[in-house]
Amino acid sequence: MSKRYTITAALPYTNGPIHIGHLAGVYVPADIYARYLRLTGNDVAFMCGSDEHGVPITIKAKKEGVTPQDIVDKYHAIIKKSFEDFGITFDNYSRTSAKIHHNTAQEFFKTLYNKGEFIEEVTEQLYDEEANQFLADRFVTGTCPKCGNEEAYGDQCENCGTSLNATDLINPKSAITGNTPTLKQTKHWFLPLDKHEDFLKEWILKGHKKDWKPNVYGQVKSWIDDGLRPRAVTRDLDWGIPVPVEGADGKVLYVWFDAPIGYISATKEWAEHEGKDWEPYWKDKDTKLVHFIGKDNIVFHCIIFPSMLKAEGSYILPDNVPANEFLNLEGNKLSTSKNWAVWLPDYLEDFPGQQDVLRYALTANAPETKDNDFTWADFQARNNNELVAIFGNFINRVVVLTNKYYNGVIPEPSDYTSIDEETLAAVKAYPTVIASSIERYRFREASQELMNLARLGNKYLADEEPWKVIKEDEARTKTIMFVALQIASALATLSEPFLPFTSEKLKKILRVALNDNVSSSDSTKENCIENSWEDISTKDILLPAGHQIGKAELLFNKIEDKTIQAQLDKLEASKLANEAANKTIEPQKDTITFEDFTKLDIRVGTILEAEKMPKTKKLLVLKVDTGIDVRTIVSGIAETFTPEEVVGKKVTVLVNLAPRALRGVESQGMILMTETPEGKLVFVNPDANQETTNGLQIS
Ligand code: MF3
Ligand code: ZN
Repeated sequence: MSKRYTITAALPYTNGPIHIGHLAGVYVPADIYARYLRLTGNDVAFMCGSDEHGVPITIKAKKEGVTPQDIVDKYHAIIKKSFEDFGITFDNYSRTSAKIHHNTAQEFFKTLYNKGEFIEEVTEQLYDEEANQFLADRFVTGTCPKCGNEEAYGDQCENCGTSLNATDLINPKSAITGNTPTLKQTKHWFLPLDKHEDFLKEWILKGHKKDWKPNVYGQVKSWIDDGLRPRAVTRDLDWGIPVPVEGADGKVLYVWFDAPIGYISATKEWAEHEGKDWEPYWKDKDTKLVHFIGKDNIVFHCIIFPSMLKAEGSYILPDNVPANEFLNLEGNKLSTSKNWAVWLPDYLEDFPGQQDVLRYALTANAPETKDNDFTWADFQARNNNELVAIFGNFINRVVVLTNKYYNGVIPEPSDYTSIDEETLAAVKAYPTVIASSIERYRFREASQELMNLARLGNKYLADEEPWKVIKEDEARTKTIMFVALQIASALATLSEPFLPFTSEKLKKILRVALNDNVSSSDSTKENCIENSWEDISTKDILLPAGHQIGKAELLFNKIEDKTIQAQLDKLEASKLANEAANKTIEPQKDTITFEDFTKLDIRVGTILEAEKMPKTKKLLVLKVDTGIDVRTIVSGIAETFTPEEVVGKKVTVLVNLAPRALRGVESQGMILMTETPEGKLVFVNPDANQETTNGLQIS
């Protein structure tokens, strides 16, 4: 039965492009869900947009010496394009700097304000005297009072997920100046979450929310059990939506107050554009509201936003909040600042036209119940062993043989064998099986069921061997090809939510109608068969005999080892760049005068002999020909060089250093050494092309 759905995907912060973690955790599952619901005839509003307020954006703008608006304009365009490129079918991708959003958020605030749903209070908040600014949210870091993480933020600890007030932090530090903040009085409006505790308990704990994912339910339960406290929903900042009441000059709405309202504004903007009424999508109790988010957003979507909606009074509450865990990359946490990520624009440059491969690899390995690791090796295997070897291979054989034997016209079948009957019956079961996984938010499982259907087709052809049968039994061959074509047609329809680009390509090859919401020109509809999701279960024939199909085209291409290696090399380069950037370089020593320098008598020498100083790790005893004499020099290089490798080396020697005894051996000078940028100890070598150095080091 057709139903109304409002599906939201977390609004991404507009301070950088998006990467595979975002796609895997939020946008691909949300898109699969939305596409599936549309295909099965539901009324869907799939909403997202750019989250353009908040401290990270102001920090980035400051760093780059531009305005926050410049930052959000730049990344809004980049992010929006990435979503389009990857076939994420938002009905509207809006932005929180849009006027309609400012109005909607302010209206929402005023409604709660007028209903007396806020506590207005002057409290002491953290203040940075040097920056002349209050510190909240990401402007302040400190130790989490709950788990001891030393890098917790002023609004949330990313280690344990707890939502915090900035004043909860132990040893707070300003992210602007590094100073320890002072306390200063300021007025704010607080949402008394404690007041909503009973409602939340009733709704989530006693209600039907036990069908929420265990990770979501568990987190929410523990926060409620810990007790909730009032939370400030306004900030002393100049970037954000002005607080729309008297006496709030210089104050803006807290970003986590305005951003989720962005879902509502996006729906309004869309409805206006489509000539629809937005309200049923948010206020009709028959509408199913589903929020797709990452696990760091759970508290905001399960406690704060529902409390806001409840306090407002006219809104529905989410039916489910399917939050995913995090995706790691090659064993390490994805990190924007460390450039440890696969950015979507980069992926598309390296793998043009291969969006479905990434969608599939991320879905098949989605971090649904625990954090998961994305590896390029797995990506390659998913492509080569599944998409190419199973799905692509099956389709290619079917289409090539149909063209070869029948000029692309689907042949008339004769009687089915029991294998044929079983196969066709199995195909009919797939829509329900896949749907059931999708409806329970098990997208990995759903994607594997789709692959099982391709496997079924592949196996059917391999077992029935039409390329052999054709030599002795033409009628049987026709039946086999007819059955295989039915499977191909089922794949064209059922793959759409997961592999939308492939599905479209395949539909064009089979001359099956595209969906209205994807569709292109009318000409593609001519001579086309239309098959809905349900039809795959109910129709006996999906592609009738006599129907003309098109020519074969490869759906997927094998990915070679060297392509994968290039990606690994790219990551390795980020790692090295990062290590170099993080390396603390010794500060330059005090300046010396030219006269000081001319006191040094530096000469080129040759090492004649070398041996380890007994009972030491570091010292080599060298005999060095300095041009004026042969002398003994004790050098601390034994951990880097063996005696054998240094004999015969030309070196630079400081010959007029006052002699000193080291372990009873008198050292009469010093060999000059230095360090490469990688930290390797090398000779200041008078012969060789010297590598760039960090400065001299005394050894
Ligand atoms: N920008 C937030 C993040 O990336 C998500 C905001 S979701 C919304 O973590 F509900 F506030 F919109
Ligand atoms: Zn913590």
